[in-house]
Amino acid sequence: MKKIIISFKLALLLSAFIYASPSWSLELIQNTDARKHVSLNGEWHIIPDIYENGFYNHRYEEKENGYYKNAKIQHPSDLIEYDFSASPTIQVPGDWNSQSERMFFYEGTVWYHKDFSLNKKKSKHYILHFGAVNYEAVVYVNGKKVGRHEGGFTSFQFDVSSLLVQGDNFVVVKVDNRRERDQIPTVNTDWWNYGGITRPVKLLELNAEYVADYAFQLDQENENQISGWVEVASKIKTNYGSVEISVPELGILKTIQLNSNTRANFNFTAKPERWSPENPKLYQVVINYKGSQIEDKVGFRTVSVKDQNILLNGKALFLRGISIHEEAPTREGRAWSEDDARTTLTWAKELGCNFVRLAHYPHNETMLKMADELGLLVWSEIPVYWTVQFEKQSVFSKAEKQLSEMISRDKNRAAIILWSVANETPNHETRFTFLEKLVSRARELDSSRLITAALDTQTSKDGLKVIDDPFASIVDVIGINSYCGWYGGTPESCADLRWHSPYNKPVIMSEFGGGALYGKHGKAIERWTEEYQAAVYKHNITMIENMPFVKGTTPWILKDFRSPRRPLPEIQDYWNRKGLVSEKGERKLAWKELHEFYEKKKPGK
Ligand code: GCU
Repeated sequence: MKKIIISFKLALLLSAFIYASPSWSLELIQNTDARKHVSLNGEWHIIPDIYENGFYNHRYEEKENGYYKNAKIQHPSDLIEYDFSASPTIQVPGDWNSQSERMFFYEGTVWYHKDFSLNKKKSKHYILHFGAVNYEAVVYVNGKKVGRHEGGFTSFQFDVSSLLVQGDNFVVVKVDNRRERDQIPTVNTDWWNYGGITRPVKLLELNAEYVADYAFQLDQENENQISGWVEVASKIKTNYGSVEISVPELGILKTIQLNSNTRANFNFTAKPERWSPENPKLYQVVINYKGSQIEDKVGFRTVSVKDQNILLNGKALFLRGISIHEEAPTREGRAWSEDDARTTLTWAKELGCNFVRLAHYPHNETMLKMADELGLLVWSEIPVYWTVQFEKQSVFSKAEKQLSEMISRDKNRAAIILWSVANETPNHETRFTFLEKLVSRARELDSSRLITAALDTQTSKDGLKVIDDPFASIVDVIGINSYCGWYGGTPESCADLRWHSPYNKPVIMSEFGGGALYGKHGKAIERWTEEYQAAVYKHNITMIENMPFVKGTTPWILKDFRSPRRPLPEIQDYWNRKGLVSEKGERKLAWKELHEFYEKKKPGK
């Protein structure tokens, strides 16, 4: 008997210890919108800290009493040289650049602080989840460091159960958006380095045993079957029991035995309506586990390539696309909300699109759910952009982590058909090896989608443009960026430009276009007029119509967007003007050129 009591006490102690470990490493929890949570969106206090005085002492060592302590004066003689409650406030989600004139160009550390009250329940798990923080986040709860995340466009989370108390709590985040050579992306990009907590923050309240992750897909081998898997998490290592999954509209109700495994695969016969841009049919999927229920909306479709064609649900199609940066459609700054997503993707639909290239980094989860809902196929991308340090393993690890975080979060989105691993990277061996390893990782993580990259290595031989980037042999679909009429040649010269692809695989013209200031009119030879941009579109479209291997286009770009590389006063003023609409949503003449082309490319036209 004595022995049993000791082992029971040991088990209790152990479970208590496990509860206490604040930064229990976690895979990403799937579909956090569907979980019980306290939203930490809203007003946060901030302290811009360009010298990181709140983190390092004068010997450049991490401080014991940094700003994350949120110290308060206890005695009139106390020396505390910061006070969040008296500091400026900012809206979360939201970048700081667009919320304050003083912060427009700011790059560096900003401390964020939020008080919140919690009715803490002993048996529950509390996971602090961030949709994204650009670029680096160091997170503290009630003055204790919880963990760090690097990467500006993917979700992350920490188990903070042991650090929270009943009633009043506070969270502090050190956000640093400084660009470094060894980051992903690296120091130079053609988009604004928006810093901050740019997507929603949630405190998830989960049962002691909960469903952490799951995947539902139409079986790529057997189209009359839905297959997938479910993964549970538990701190009490015992029998994990069973999970019930159902798809009510298909009359599916299955119980999956987990037993001693935290993860179980499943498949069942089903004949769901295929998801497509014309019929974006989503099914409610319900997962019940130990008293808690999660609902999601999932589309079922197949995607594949056959020779130079892209097939959706077994039928070849042309991807009528447009490139999109993650900027709010009618205000400055990063997009993050449902309204932002609905407005932006409705514009794409009005343009005649069935496809969007979400450049150059994973967009917010709401955007992907909206693409599922509105019926837009998606090219989703990690920011391996231009000249990252391909020679460094540490840089590869960052890219790989962002790739797996992107795929983990969005694997249930039928709209996504392409994972892109790079944009306009230089053609050399180290880069080839780096990207090749990324592609194999992507295929390991998700064998059901196509892999692509936007390449800009083409050579001209006797007036013929040839795609001759060796990396084209690795991807399923080749993206080519080419700016005939803008970065070379006249708009008219594009109509006669001929291309050759030596690859028996589909090609997407992933970028073409030119700039125009909305409302500037003149002759079509005058740069920056709407007429010039329209001529670029007109003649590039003629060129594309003579490229039978091109099965999709995502011209650059839907809307003018902020870039530090575009200072030209009166014309750019730090806007990249290649948008078909201005930063106020005003449509330029080129919109019509593309819209007419896409009307002609619609099935049955
Ligand atoms: C490149 C790049 C884009 C950039 C565009 C431009 O192709 O991929 O990120 O904004 O050209 O020059 O406007």
